[in-house]
Amino acid sequence: MVDLPGQYQKIKTEVDAAILEVIYSATFINGPAVKTFQEQMEAYLGVKHVIPCGNGTDALQLALMALDLKPGDEVITTSFTFIATAEVIALLKLKPVFVDVFPDTYNIDPYAIEQAITSKTKAIIPVHLFGQAADINAILKIAKKHHLFVVEDTAQAIGAEVYGLENRDNIKVGTMGDVGCTSFFPSKNLGAFGDGGAIFTNNDKLATKIRMLVNHGMSERYYHDYVGINSRLDSIQAAILSVKLKHLDEYTAARQKAAAFYNEAFADCERIQCPQTAEFTSHVFHQYTIVLKNVDRQGLMSHLNELGVASAVYYPVPLHLQKAYRDSRYSEGDFPVTEALSQSVLSLPIHTELTESIQEEIINAVLEYVKK
Ligand SMILES: Cc1ncc(COP(=O)(O)O)c(C=O)c1O
Repeated sequence: MVDLPGQYQKIKTEVDAAILEVIYSATFINGPAVKTFQEQMEAYLGVKHVIPCGNGTDALQLALMALDLKPGDEVITTSFTFIATAEVIALLKLKPVFVDVFPDTYNIDPYAIEQAITSKTKAIIPVHLFGQAADINAILKIAKKHHLFVVEDTAQAIGAEVYGLENRDNIKVGTMGDVGCTSFFPSKNLGAFGDGGAIFTNNDKLATKIRMLVNHGMSERYYHDYVGINSRLDSIQAAILSVKLKHLDEYTAARQKAAAFYNEAFADCERIQCPQTAEFTSHVFHQYTIVLKNVDRQGLMSHLNELGVASAVYYPVPLHLQKAYRDSRYSEGDFPVTEALSQSVLSLPIHTELTESIQEEIINAVLEYVKK
């Protein structure tokens, strides 16, 4: 689905030098490379505080830990996302409350959020799925009206921009809610060479607390004000991410170009619904995910596999139907859009090294089967 070796080859000199610098300085944990990357991210996102951490799941957990929620408090999120979003809610003994998504953007439906609010609701976690913003404007209004926190899950959409919010131009996702969270998993749009993550906030108090929480709740060495965790971005990953951050906009442009090429090729095919971008956001195409109509998905995937073309289903089982999250509140049929999508979506390869000739092979392979 991605070509990380190909991407590395193009920035090898810069990346190798950055890694060696950390090795020679032996500043592996909390070294200057981490601070430099943090400041570069703050400037890139236009946010006051970036707090690097160990991975995207920890970022979400730390964000919720910082909000002082109590066991049993409800957190509303989408059922159509990667499990980490709900996992951290459950781990903290909070109650994940799932809602449905839109059929065209696959993102959480703000109307459904408002319907799910109870006296126990304390926070909303919108996920900016596959690379475009959820309707954050509407979500922020709902949050304000009901005094709820908003934690943005930006793991798949780093660099995506929302237009015209609060009369400001092009605000980056992850910087609009109380806290934003991202992942630097290697295949993410901004990917490390191992695990990594970060938390974003404009709130000074929350930033101070999260900085302590990532480091055992420590205010100063061996003085622990909170029960925290150990979640650090190591200096080698930070140094690599600094190099890759310089290329992020060019990587995004390559993904957008590849998506436009797919869109054009599939435009006349009635059995393929191409990904739709909402008018209020840019799309950074972490995934290029189509919806198949009257096509045997497994058959198509086997056909592609035989031709050496990768494809993947994100996500085959909605969270409310996962064994670990099933409870008496939910059953099949509760979220019809999510459930239909989980049966019909298919993600095709999209990455920074995709050429039109490779894409033509993928497109021909898809159409050959779909048009049968
Ligand atoms: C939407 C979403 N949230 C959270 C995560 C968790 O990130 P990590 O794998 O870095 O823990 C991911 C990663 O796949 C994700 O896609």
